[in-house]
Amino acid sequence: MSLKEKINTATIPQHIAIIMDGNGRWAKKQGKNRVFGHKNGVKSVREVSEACAELGVKHLTLYAFSTENWNRPKLEVFALMELLVFTIGSETKTLMKNNIRLKTIGDTSKMPEKVQRELNKLKEATKNNTRMDLVLALNYSGRQELVNAVKKIAEDVKKGKIEANNITENDINRNLYTAEIPEPELMIRTSGELRLSNFLLWQSAYTELYFTEEFWPEFNRESLYKALVQFQSRERRFGKTSEQLEK
Ligand code: FPP
Repeated sequence: MSLKEKINTATIPQHIAIIMDGNGRWAKKQGKNRVFGHKNGVKSVREVSEACAELGVKHLTLYAFSTENWNRPKLEVFALMELLVFTIGSETKTLMKNNIRLKTIGDTSKMPEKVQRELNKLKEATKNNTRMDLVLALNYSGRQELVNAVKKIAEDVKKGKIEANNITENDINRNLYTAEIPEPELMIRTSGELRLSNFLLWQSAYTELYFTEEFWPEFNRESLYKALVQFQSRERRFGKTSEQLEK
């Protein structure tokens, strides 16, 4: 039985989030520069996005650039931005063919103009696509997202729209970048690092975490299938006992 055949198509996660890590180390391993790793990372983005859409995943969120990534060497940041512009600019056909809609989370207003322009074009072109949302986290920080939500709620309290005492989890949910997106059921991180690194902190309260030693450019269709088979073998209890779940 192939790995793909082992996947239960009835319980495919609606939302998968991925921390794409290890591009630099993968490149170094073969004596190449870090940018070579990022370029090969794009291949994995393409393959995994297509595979997710085919399997029936409704939302795929990729951590493409964190607020902390600005601290990398200037040349690498520049190259990453150029790669984003080029990739986003050349993916219209693929996204249309696969009926995928592009979305972003994070403060994209601080991204270079060129990146914003390409993003807006691709968002507009794909806005009526329905098979899957590809959500790019760009200039994203989970803590900053929560701070922003708190500010908006504080404004609502000041305006008398809500009472401080009546603030609910839903008030926080609806003020996050992910207001329209369900919580991820599965989060994958490549390259052997065992951290969330400020990614979807609030949204991942009950998310199943999957870590693999593979570097992101090595992560392919089969790697995704493996993660899904693992995920489906777990029991998600949300604080309940196994017996309660059986009822
Ligand atoms: C992590 O590897 C990767 C990134 C910070 C950038 C991810 C970007 C891409 C895959 C390319 C562009 C993406 C899209 C969606 C078009 P790392 O550099 O942290 O690797 P290291 O930990 O080995 O240094």
